[in-house]
Amino acid sequence: MLAITLIAASSAYAPAPGRRSEILSHDVQRNMGIKIRGNFSDSHDKLLSSAVMPSNFTWCNNAGVNYCTMSRNQHIPQYCGSCWAHGAISALGDRIKIARGAEGIDVNLAVQHLLNCGNVGSCSGGSIDGPYQWMMEISKTGAGVAYETSNPYIACTSDSSEGFCKHVDTTCKAINIARTCGSFSQEGGTCTGLSSYPNATISDYGSISGKDAMMKEIIARGPISCGIDAGPLLNYEKGIADASGEGVDHVISVVGWGNEAGVPYWIVRNSWGEYWGEMGYVRVAFGALKIEEQCSWAVPKDFTSAEKANQVHCHEGGDNCKAA
Ligand SMILES: *[C@@H]1O[C@H](CO)[C@@H](O)[C@H](O)[C@H]1NC(C)=O
Ligand SMILES: *[C@@H]1O[C@H](CO)[C@@H](O)[C@H](O)[C@H]1NC(C)=O
Ligand SMILES: *[C@@H]1O[C@H](CO)[C@@H](O)[C@H](O)[C@H]1NC(C)=O
Repeated sequence: MLAITLIAASSAYAPAPGRRSEILSHDVQRNMGIKIRGNFSDSHDKLLSSAVMPSNFTWCNNAGVNYCTMSRNQHIPQYCGSCWAHGAISALGDRIKIARGAEGIDVNLAVQHLLNCGNVGSCSGGSIDGPYQWMMEISKTGAGVAYETSNPYIACTSDSSEGFCKHVDTTCKAINIARTCGSFSQEGGTCTGLSSYPNATISDYGSISGKDAMMKEIIARGPISCGIDAGPLLNYEKGIADASGEGVDHVISVVGWGNEAGVPYWIVRNSWGEYWGEMGYVRVAFGALKIEEQCSWAVPKDFTSAEKANQVHCHEGGDNCKAA
């Protein structure tokens, strides 16, 4: 009886001593205003699933076309428990690339904007569901997530004392959403926060779990962000990871699935750099590492791009785009 009560009260899994979970407890997430396993709509339930799924499918090579965006590294320039932000941003970036038919220069979204302004996590961990809920809120204002080149990833949040983090200001203000640091003082001075900047919005989000829902969502609309047990992945080198796992303490994005010698597996992009695993990826056996327990998806709405003729045209020093 006591054991049952304890499990119900602490919804977060505590990893082995010495290992840090990068997922906040459900109570902490609720206090941040996050809807646990929230859905904006029931559009996922309305997706038609083909009776038989292909034995292999990946957005990184779909009929010879790569729809996967860049691999990332959450741990440089210093450790930061921002896997949850990387998983969500990478899956959404892929979905934007899918919407563009893999044409044009890739749109890479700013993980740091989510860290600075999302209020759904930090370098001390975050939420699987929160990032897309925040994006939906800001999307209503017409200003979505900034692009990486206006707000590069620095692996810091205000609560981090790793590396140089004590010396940087990451509070949510114009200069920490999108900025330029021009070369000429007469162009506006040192660094200028921008009022107009390339950005991406979403129109829908939701939460799923289980193999069938994951396959249906991935094949119909693109990669998803999922929780996973990172313990067995720390020293992973190659092959199919098949440990059952103990609990979710990390977030990754799932881009597809395959089958090797009768073992079906998920194709998983991590955010630990390309020197880790199989060029930054890991294959995870179906049902292993708790990967099918908690996944989130989002649907892109608008994004700034040449083909949409909705570019912004800021000067190098930002004087014509200066934030109020
Ligand atoms: C969100 O939708 C999924 C399926 O589409 C469902 O499994 C889940 O329970 C829903 N979440 C909530 C909080 O109702
Ligand atoms: C992938 O699945 C297709 C059928 O959907 C099959 O023709 C092909 O041989 C499979 N490829 C691999 C590498 O398993
Ligand atoms: C966000 O991008 C859209 C185009 O996709 C643009 O119309 C809008 O002005 C941008 N918002 C900001 C704050 O720059």
